[in-house]
Amino acid sequence: MLNQEFDRAAKGFAARSAGRFDNMGVVEFSRVRREDTVLEVGAGTGNFLALFEGHAARLVALDLTEGMLREGARRYPFLNLVLGDGARLPFRSRSLGLVTSAQALHHVFEPVPFVMEMRRVCAGDGHVLIVDQAATESYEEIAFMNELEVIRDPSHAMSRPPSAFHAIVMAAGLEIADERLYEDQSRFSKWMWPGEFPQERIDATRDFVERFGAETGMDFERDGDDWVFTRRRIMLLARRP
Ligand SMILES: C[S@@+](CC[C@H](N)C(=O)[O-])C[C@H]1O[C@@H](n2cnc3c(N)ncnc32)[C@H](O)[C@@H]1O
Repeated sequence: MLNQEFDRAAKGFAARSAGRFDNMGVVEFSRVRREDTVLEVGAGTGNFLALFEGHAARLVALDLTEGMLREGARRYPFLNLVLGDGARLPFRSRSLGLVTSAQALHHVFEPVPFVMEMRRVCAGDGHVLIVDQAATESYEEIAFMNELEVIRDPSHAMSRPPSAFHAIVMAAGLEIADERLYEDQSRFSKWMWPGEFPQERIDATRDFVERFGAETGMDFERDGDDWVFTRRRIMLLARRP
């Protein structure tokens, strides 16, 4: 399901999501060093990893989905590509200076083994950086948000509140070095861009927003034919204790 969804959507995804990390101060937050190799697990079309161009020695994009990596290679020829699963990283233990994952953990049902692998390959003096969408801390809002996200994208596993990210990182044997919550406004028409999503899915998602949008914690508000809503992201920087 996950591979099919991203293979189908790669070109549209890359166009829609271009630039979405540009104002988050990711590079400075990551404490990357010039000599570091930066790995992104679930790098997709490379939007996130490309931010590190000129700030690190080598950029390695690992992803499960060939179509996403192919699109990433076309956009950012300087990336080194690896087809693989984040749960079994093909790298030596403690070999990489910065190990990142952006907007991928919400596609993963079992996040602890995934983050443990990130920790395993991270150098003793390196960092693990996780960026992902964040839900509110309300159990009910999380349930509604996840229902909405699965209608929108069947490869969605789980949106999580900040407290769940803290627990995952600690269960994976890391400690939190820094944390930032980032909020911005988005629009339904951009989030469900017809260049990426089939019309019947756009209609089903719109219908859910109309009925239950107020329950998701995403602050949906009508704007003519469109909706505006709040998008929350968490950035967590972690290291070995
Ligand atoms: C929403 S996209 C994010 C892509 C990119 N990080 C970005 O933010 O633009 C999620 C990506 O995670 C990849 N992915 C999900 N689970 C994975 C896993 N277990 N191992 C490797 N990649 C995975 C998907 O193939 C997809 O390309």
